[in-house]
Amino acid sequence: MCGIVGYIGQLDAKEILLKGLEKLEYRGYDSAGIAVANEDGVHVFKEKGRIADLRAAVDENIVSQAGIGHTRWATHGEPSRLNAHPHRSASGRFTLVHNGVIENYVQLTREYLQDVNLKSDTDTEVVVQVIEQFVNRGLDTEEAFRQTLMLLKGSYAIALFDHENKETIYVAKNKSPLLVGLGDTFNVVASDAMAMLQVTNEYVELMDKEMVIVTDKKVVIKNLEGEMMSRASYIAELDASDIEKGTYPHYMLKEIDEQPLVMRKIIQTYQDENGKLSVPGDVANAVAEADRVYIIACGTSYHAGLVGKQFIETWAKVPTEVHVASEFSYNMPLLSEKPLFIFISQSGETADSRAVLVQVKKLGHKALTLTNVPGSTLSREADYTLLLNAGPEIAVASTKAYTAQIAVLAILAAVTAESRGKELGFDLVKELGIIGNAMEALCDQKDEMEMIAREYLTVTRNAFFIGRGLDYFVCLEGSLKLKEISYIQAEGFAGGELKHGTIALIEDGTPVIALATQEHVNLSIRGNVKEVTARGANPCVISLKGLEEADDRFVLPEVHPELAPLVSVIPLQLIAYYAALHRGCDVDKPRNLAKSVTVE
Ligand code: G6P
Repeated sequence: MCGIVGYIGQLDAKEILLKGLEKLEYRGYDSAGIAVANEDGVHVFKEKGRIADLRAAVDENIVSQAGIGHTRWATHGEPSRLNAHPHRSASGRFTLVHNGVIENYVQLTREYLQDVNLKSDTDTEVVVQVIEQFVNRGLDTEEAFRQTLMLLKGSYAIALFDHENKETIYVAKNKSPLLVGLGDTFNVVASDAMAMLQVTNEYVELMDKEMVIVTDKKVVIKNLEGEMMSRASYIAELDASDIEKGTYPHYMLKEIDEQPLVMRKIIQTYQDENGKLSVPGDVANAVAEADRVYIIACGTSYHAGLVGKQFIETWAKVPTEVHVASEFSYNMPLLSEKPLFIFISQSGETADSRAVLVQVKKLGHKALTLTNVPGSTLSREADYTLLLNAGPEIAVASTKAYTAQIAVLAILAAVTAESRGKELGFDLVKELGIIGNAMEALCDQKDEMEMIAREYLTVTRNAFFIGRGLDYFVCLEGSLKLKEISYIQAEGFAGGELKHGTIALIEDGTPVIALATQEHVNLSIRGNVKEVTARGANPCVISLKGLEEADDRFVLPEVHPELAPLVSVIPLQLIAYYAALHRGCDVDKPRNLAKSVTVE
């Protein structure tokens, strides 16, 4: 988490840093800061809270040609101005921003900083102080930086500024993302391309344990042994308008609305010239030849994995397990003989998932990453990648990436089924097309969703989501959406499970949102709705056309039932959105969360 940005060149650094940080705010928004240099010296501005707060605090008359900036998701030390980056060395000569976690900061403090009075509670400050200690011992800045990097354990993307050499920014990375952006009269660094799109679309990727010396004219990459590395640049196909809200009040609403379009894009991308669904040959073979698939993911991506497991098992007949990444690392199950690991990650940067990837690669197993971000760490380090093609997702609460993940998993399962000689029994291209239309129809019924949110979720302190089979998995996602952005305590349950304990929480008026899209469990879920209603719950049944009953609150358009999660989640996303809105919550940037979680 945290986002960093650095700029050196002819334009006004302050404005480029602030704009870059605004694009990185999804990575954390506990505090923010910039350090900018001009002939008068180096000026540091920091504020607790959002980039908007920082912007208000920055002296707008300062013109500068170099600087570094940071937006923070607190790990070490509370969110405060004191703990905000950039951090400065004791003499004030060095300023540093950092994304990641320095695991051995206590040991470094003990060994190198006995006589230094640390000002913050952060692991980051230790890094900048150690660099200064090395310089005090006679090393030049680059060498002091290199020697310090050699000592660091953990994850980092770092940008360092030496006030005695304002023509250079020193950067380095290990496990945390960092890119260099190239320009004619400037160079720029940032945690992701979106932060640099304002000035360039040409980038250079950095590898772990590399350091880079950046000036306005040159980018020199070295490994930690000090050897020069050469790396070609690439042009990113990001469109600046993709990362703007346009006329929407929130990114989340825009991204919900984009889902029909994304569905069509995915169908198109994964079709060959004859209109047949296809994935790169080696990917399909990898799944088809595996004796077991292990899906690893976190949060919303984990929920998409649960749905994907059903496709892979039902259609392709490959046994599949789904695991939460942060648990898998420490509780690895007995693996099969020939496993294939599928990592699902919108960002492709989630540290918990990456930790598992590193482990399974060490064991010599094959890995496939499903991600929305080409060139992301999980994509680079896996053997294969399938892209989600959902376009940048900015709102912290994931929406279009979830449905994209399910669609790509469906395509992967269908192609694998075919290569294993298994019949799907329906035309997936056609059915996904129908899904796209159904999504559109649902997005047109926002007023209805707003009413449901008002009716059920305005005054409640909790809410339950129940469903069976595929509906249960969507309930997990629906409840996550609601709690993430509205702070209503919400839980998703398998319909039959609520009565084994949690039904004790049902009281007069407790909202219970029930999904009924699966015919084979329809009667059972209806029974569960009756059980909670009898105890005072306020039921809101959302059913699939064909299964509806008189009192159902909302009926979803008819789609293939196995693909129903792609549409049943949309009302849940919209209900969560309106519930958060009615409660005055910050929909796109919910408290305590970050979109890209690059710490374990
Ligand atoms: C964070 C986000 C969630 C997301 C999860 C996994 O916790 O707040 O919205 O689902 O990370 O992210 P990934 O990028 O790996 O899908």
